[in-house]
Amino acid sequence: MNLLIIEGSPFPVSKTEVIAEEIKSQIEQPEHKVDIVKLSEWDIPILGSGKTEDVEKLKRLAEEADAFIIGTPNYHTSFSGALKNVLDHLSTDEFEMKPVGLFCVSGGMRNTDPLTQLRLVMRGLHGLTIPTQISAADADFEKDESGHPYLYNQGVKQRISVMIDSLTELVYKVK
Ligand SMILES: Cc1cc2nc3c(=O)[nH]c(=O)nc-3n(C[C@H](O)[C@H](O)[C@H](O)COP(=O)(O)O)c2cc1C
Repeated sequence: MNLLIIEGSPFPVSKTEVIAEEIKSQIEQPEHKVDIVKLSEWDIPILGSGKTEDVEKLKRLAEEADAFIIGTPNYHTSFSGALKNVLDHLSTDEFEMKPVGLFCVSGGMRNTDPLTQLRLVMRGLHGLTIPTQISAADADFEKDESGHPYLYNQGVKQRISVMIDSLTELVYKVK
């Protein structure tokens, strides 16, 4: 499986990124190829304001992907604007009938509203969003000595494993 993870936090120190890395670490490589698009590192301008090498790379990786996992922080009960901008650079050409897994990280209470809204966007892109999703919150993380967050809640780690299995199963069914 060729998996593209798009993590939608615009911040360099990010719990959304921590989950993206956890997903990558749980997927066997080199049997599977996993790339992560980190919005804090990638130069993806607002749609309509020019193209960059990273936009070209994003499109190439999305085209080559067999499946996507898309993660976002909860921003005002929705997904981040930065993530929407990345998705606006893509189209049904890259997503048509490809399995998609979703996750989000909220600040206070766990909340699935951002995921429900992302499901609608995925429908617009003709992606096959799987039922299993991950909704984490700040309380699922602790900080290490350098102040960097790590995933503390083992239940979330197990849920990630279940989502990867569901996604992988669907990838081989639609191939
Ligand atoms: C602009 C903004 C809006 C936010 N809105 C919400 C919200 O509506 N509900 C919530 O639970 N947390 C909200 N948060 C908190 C973030 O979802 C939370 O801190 C999350 O862990 C951030 O993800 P990150 O560490 O990957 O950047 C908001 C944070 C920001 C910066």
